[in-house]
Formats: sequence, C-alpha cells, structure tokens
Amino acid sequence: MDHSVVKKVEELLAKMTLDEKIGQMTQVRHFDDITEEDIATKFIGSVIHTQGPLPGVNAQEWQEKFTRLQKKALSTRLGIPLLFGVDAVHGQNTYEGATIFPHNIGLGASRNAQLVKRAAEITALETKATGFNWAFSPCIAIPYNEKWGRVYEAFSESTELTEEFARASVIGHQGSQLGRDSVMATAKHFIGDGSTDNGVEGGDCTLSPEEVRERLVPPYRAAVEAGIGSVMASFNSMSGHFMHAHEYWISDVLKGELGFDGIMVSDWKAYSRFGENEIINAGIDVVMAVDGDLQMFHDGLKAGVESGEVPMERIDDAVRRILTQKFRLGVFENPFPDASLIPQIGIQAHRDVARQAVRESLVLLKNKEHILPLDKNIPKIVVVGEHGDNTGLQSGGWSINWQGSLESYAGSTSILQGIEKLAEGEVLYDKDATGAHKDADVAIIVVGETPYAELFGDIGGEIDAYQLTLTEEHQNYINTYVNLGVKVVTLFISGRPLVTTDQINKSEAFVAAWLPGSEGDGIAEVLFGEFDFKGTLPHAWPASEEDYKGKYGPNFWDDSVKPLFPFGFGLNYRDETSENDTTTGK
Ligand code: GLC
Repeated sequence: MDHSVVKKVEELLAKMTLDEKIGQMTQVRHFDDITEEDIATKFIGSVIHTQGPLPGVNAQEWQEKFTRLQKKALSTRLGIPLLFGVDAVHGQNTYEGATIFPHNIGLGASRNAQLVKRAAEITALETKATGFNWAFSPCIAIPYNEKWGRVYEAFSESTELTEEFARASVIGHQGSQLGRDSVMATAKHFIGDGSTDNGVEGGDCTLSPEEVRERLVPPYRAAVEAGIGSVMASFNSMSGHFMHAHEYWISDVLKGELGFDGIMVSDWKAYSRFGENEIINAGIDVVMAVDGDLQMFHDGLKAGVESGEVPMERIDDAVRRILTQKFRLGVFENPFPDASLIPQIGIQAHRDVARQAVRESLVLLKNKEHILPLDKNIPKIVVVGEHGDNTGLQSGGWSINWQGSLESYAGSTSILQGIEKLAEGEVLYDKDATGAHKDADVAIIVVGETPYAELFGDIGGEIDAYQLTLTEEHQNYINTYVNLGVKVVTLFISGRPLVTTDQINKSEAFVAAWLPGSEGDGIAEVLFGEFDFKGTLPHAWPASEEDYKGKYGPNFWDDSVKPLFPFGFGLNYRDETSENDTTTGK
C-alpha cells in the first residue's frame, strides 16, 4: 500500500461526519434517483449510467453532464470527487458508435489472452472518452448450466481459462496497477452467479465450499493478484444464504484470505432485497441505492450505526476502501473527463482489433467435404435469416440497450455486408427463407438467439422466453434450403451452446459464432479463407435436451453427461477430418 495514500485517506476519514461517510457508500443513477443538487446535499460517492435516459446526445454532452455532477460533489465541505460507473462489458456498449467486441464467451473461444487485454484497453479508453472511470466488468463466472441467461457474459466453464482471462482483462482495464490512467475494473459476480441449480439467475448455488474453492474462487484470486479495484456481489444465494449478506465469503475469504483491498460493490437495489444492514456487516462497501432504495438505505444505515447494529469500524473500513481507490485513480487531482479522448471512440484501429476478435472467436464444428473455405468466385450465394443483416441481433444483450437491440446500430457492420464485400459472384439476401433460391451454389443461413440479458435469458426460469433448441422458424430456414437441394453453411449466433444436433447433421458446415458485436464483417474473412478458424469451444456442447435433466449441463469435469462436442473442440482448414460424425447425436 502506498504510504502517501494511506496518510491522505486517514487524514480525510478523520474529518468525515457519519452522513458524509454514508454518502460515500452510496451509488445512484444519474437520473431518476436524485437531483443534481442531491449529489452535494447527500454527499453521494458514485454515479452510474444504466438503462434509461442517456446523459446526452453525444460523448461531449455525456462528459458535460458528468462534469456538472462532479462540480456538485467538489462543492461540498470536503470536496470528495465522484466515481462514474457503467456496464461496459464488451466495449463501451452503452454508447452508440463505440467499438463493441464479441461477448466474453467469444473471447473465451479465441483462447487469446493478449486479445482480451487489448480489448479491455480499448474498452477502457472509449469508456473514459464517454466520461466514466469505473467499468462493471469482467464477469468471471464459471457457468455450470447453459439454461443460465448470462453464460455469454463469462469466458468459459474452465476455471483455468477464466483465471488467465480475468488477469488479462483487469490489466487491460487498469494497467499493471490501479492508477490515474486506469478505468477501475469490477470482477463479478461474487460468488456462484453461474453455478446455481438449473442455471437460475439469482438462484441457489448448492456447491460445497470445497467445490466453490476449487472451481469458482481461483479467478477471483487472479483478479486480486492483478490489482482489481472492485468486486461486485452476486444476486444468488449460497445454500440458502444471500451472497450479499455472506460474511464468510465476502469478508473472511475475499477480503481476508485473498487480501482484496478494493471496493465491494453491491448489485442492483441490494439493500432492500438482501437484508439491509446485514449486507453492510457482511462486507458490502458501496450500495447501488437505486429504484427507491436511497432514503431507506441512508435512514437504515444511520440508525444501524447509532444503535450499534453496524459498528463504526465497519463503516470506516468501507469508506477507507472507497477513498483509497479514489486516491489511487487520481480523481482528487484530476476529477473531470478528458475531452481529448472523444475522437478515439470507434476508430478503425479499434474496430480492426474487434474484427480480429470476431475471426478468432469462431468455432468450426463441421466442414463436410471441405465446403469451407468458400471460393470468392462462387457464382451465387444466398444469405438467409434476419440475423444475417442486423447488427443488433448479432450483438446480444448489453448492446446499446440493457436487453440489446433488435435493429442495426451506428458504426457496426453486418454479416451480409462482410460477405458482399469479399464475394466476387452474386450475393442474394433471403431474410425469411421464402426466396427459394434453389439455383444458389451455397446458402449461408444465419440463425440463433435474439438478444437478452440477466433473468430474461434464463431457459425454464421465471420468464422462460428462450429454449434449448433453435426456434421452429429457424429450424425451417435450414430445412427449406436443404429440401431445395442447396448446400447449407449454418452460422449460429448465440450466447451459449444449445441443442443443435439436427441442424448440424443437415448442414454441410456449422459455425458457432457466439455474439460477435459491431464487427460482423469479420466472419466473411474466415468463411472465404482469408484467415483460418482458430476458435475452440469454451464450453462442452450438448447433444440433446436430455443433457439438462440434472441441475447442471454438460461440463468437461462431469463424465456423467457425454457432450456432442467436448470442451476445446474446433476444426480448422488444415484438419483432415472432413466432418464430425454427428449423425450419432442422441
Ligand atoms: C445488474 C447486473 C450487474 C450490473 C448492475 C448494474 O443487475 O447484475 O451485472 O453491473 O446491475 O447495471
């Protein structure tokens, strides 16, 4: 610990009133929870932008709004500056025009830690350019069940791979240590978010402490060793005990054993949902006091301290952690956004890196008679499906909007655009497979999931809008062109492996493309052989819905479920294997 920081923190802490301390522990949205004046009167410590009114129409206005709020904070007695946080989870994805990378599952498929670091560096820069200094990323969950609606936010079912990528992402966001050029990263969600029974978002994780230590803790150890500035608590419970109120895992293990000295931030509206002052006593340092929780939090915590329910030592520990990160980030000396960064948002050099990530994320699961790579002079290609020419659909959740976008957005390129750019022959587009182009030499059929985030993507959960197989409509896109006798190359856009055995059997080639983000044109560069496939499966791929009869899906460590393709599988153009024999799929 930098002794000069320690000295400054202790001097400032000694001057603070209880109201000022509780204010620092408070995080609110920049819109409906507070007026700009409240930033000062309530001594607010941090502000977030999430789904809702945008801070402005462009990055300059976003910066201007945050500058106004910062000046309110600086006008207070002690002038402690704000932190500004945002869910920049695959690029600065809340800002239209930013570079949007493949979601983490695609980066996991790339197995390229350097690329993960570079993507985080670019994300940090574009996040700073839009006025923020805190990113709620990376998600380092270990998904046990593809029914979970957030599988795509994590890198892999592999603990080792996730450890490596957690480290790379933290360093990409923060640098070798948290400093004035950093965007503070957030390892989330601690702990067990992706390992609940039946993949229920916010459900119950019933793993034993030993299993949690073996499979889920190591990525957090790697993040702490890399200097992670914050960790976000998870919605799930651990064998019936709210994780937000779990003193053992948060304080004894994460802060104690692992030595995490940063900010433990709650997730959404956690104070009223997970035990009020119990979450503070368990080790939460900053509370997302949103959606009507603000006054309850302030009144409840103040009463808790005055009654002795919450020791002042716990409050001082929380504030000490908050002030320490603010001094490390240099926001006392440099509290305002840097307008000179704005022109770098979405520049071609950034998009080139994102396009490389798209290429390296693709996993070739079948390539019968080496139909791929396609010859650029192939006379007639038909591209089929709405996902083929819609960058909202190819980007998944947390893209422009919390639940993603159903339309193309600024600065992005679609899969069709990439194909049109490289093909020398005729390229037709058949959005709903009614074109019946039976004379096409190949049909590139783009199917998959529509965007979702959090519990909205759970399969079999509360909302249950998704399924383990393709929709009937998308199955028919493939059936239609197979029945026309046209060779089919299927591109599968999804946030997770799903049961696609029948479609793989019917396709000449099948590519898992995950959620590529803004640079959809990178896919064509591999289909036409400008680059070879490099991606390998970050998760075991299921054979049938039967694979989910237990509380988890097929995972490489669990031999009881035989996957269609194992973790780590992926073909390339040099492979002798012309096809993976999936006709024996269950
Ligand atoms: C959400 C998510 C979390 C996100 C936070 C702020 O509910 O669980 O990942 O960072 O709220 O949007």
